[in-house]
Amino acid sequence: MAAEVKLLSRNFGSPESWTLSSYERAGGYRTAVKALRMDPAAVTEEVKQSGLRGRGGAGFPTGMKWGFVPKDSNSPKYLCVNADESEPGTFKDRYLLELDPHQLIEGIVITSWAVGIHRAYIYVRGEFGLPYHRLQAAVDEAYAKGYLGPRSFGTAFDLDVTIHRGAGAYICGEETGLIESLEGKPGRPRIKPPFPAVVGVFGGPTVVNNVETLSAVPWIIENGAAAYRSYGTEKSPGTKLFSVSGPVARPGVYEVPLGLPLKTLVYDLCGGIRGGKAMKANIPGGSSVPVLTREEAEGADLDYESLAAAGTMLGSGGMIVIDEETCMVRALSTLMKFYAHESCGQCTPCREGTGWLRGLVARLEAGGGSPADMDKILSITNRMIGTTICVLSDAAAMPAASFVTKFRGEFERHVGAGRCPFRSDPLLAGAARRQDHA
Ligand SMILES: Cc1cc2nc3c(=O)[nH]c(=O)nc-3n(C[C@H](O)[C@H](O)[C@H](O)COP(=O)(O)O)c2cc1C
Ligand code: SF4
Repeated sequence: MAAEVKLLSRNFGSPESWTLSSYERAGGYRTAVKALRMDPAAVTEEVKQSGLRGRGGAGFPTGMKWGFVPKDSNSPKYLCVNADESEPGTFKDRYLLELDPHQLIEGIVITSWAVGIHRAYIYVRGEFGLPYHRLQAAVDEAYAKGYLGPRSFGTAFDLDVTIHRGAGAYICGEETGLIESLEGKPGRPRIKPPFPAVVGVFGGPTVVNNVETLSAVPWIIENGAAAYRSYGTEKSPGTKLFSVSGPVARPGVYEVPLGLPLKTLVYDLCGGIRGGKAMKANIPGGSSVPVLTREEAEGADLDYESLAAAGTMLGSGGMIVIDEETCMVRALSTLMKFYAHESCGQCTPCREGTGWLRGLVARLEAGGGSPADMDKILSITNRMIGTTICVLSDAAAMPAASFVTKFRGEFERHVGAGRCPFRSDPLLAGAARRQDHA
């Protein structure tokens, strides 16, 4: 479709795109050879100039992050590739791993050369089956061809890559939780500073980057920062993969230039809402960001600045579309169960707050709450934001506050009716009440 710009996803759909031979037929690994002939500082500078920002959620400038790694460190430096992808609504890294694992490996080689790293770990979400197997096969192929291991590509540069599978905890996607887990400990986030770039895995300076971020590096080094900047906006350059779920005609992963109107993605590329229904709400950046009303969503563009101006975030680009038939209280209840389950429990506001939110919202959904509950939810979320070791607490509080503020009428209807007004069948409503109190 016209609005898509396939830089990172250009090989999706090619026969056996995940194999080395297919990748090399399409020109793959040429850029690694080019980069290994460049001054490492020049590689970092090119990435800085491209304006690439981390695609894992926080949007931190990638070249700047690499620049924080001390050049004179006595400890070995490490690269941790964040392939944990556990945010509800987000499934774009899975596509990159499944369909183009060699592009990621090439990004790892170039990044490691730029920063002076000789060991990289890829931390893969525990539930990933096919993405893991394809990635492992690709790493094995790259070793067999001499692209990884000692004397990478016949140069004096050594690089080892190890895949580590997680065990199914969302918190292991948080960069310091990931590092703890990689070290064999429970994935409990660390207090920062020190930041991983200074003290990371095994005490060494560590770059933690998302799969999509690293997959963009080969294209940038091959084509140059200026070419990358020709897509997107001044402040949000390049393209981004959005994973779109919900009742749209064509859900899936779409690579589009940043700054694309949200409407174009939902109504043109994804074919609009199924069955001629209306969009009621939109969570544009994964389940951790504030929800937008239909009017807000239709007026927003898909870039960091426009979404911030609309009161939400680009996050991971995991867009959840919500239609007019969806109960917002039930949707929030589902999210709150997730966050309460995934809190690691170190910080009181998060451990207790996520539990209270889960309980309050589940009671409202089942028709058992009171009008005071909405203010109670807002008061709890106020105390959860900015008060904890990591931002999982904020990630639970921000959607809760936005759902209650923007869709308060729906919460009040539940209280008024003593049941979910979206469930016309009384048997179903009763079943929901029993399930939510279980
Ligand atoms: C609870 C939580 C879960 C996260 N999960 C992921 C994840 O699955 N993948 C990811 O890349 N970043 C995740 N992040 C963000 C990482 O902490 C980190 O910012 C990111 O890996 C940095 O890479 P980038 O600069 O390339 O985006 C998570 C953050 C939090 C607070
Ligand atoms: S905010 Fe929550 S998940 Fe993060 S460290 Fe504290 S308790 Fe753990």
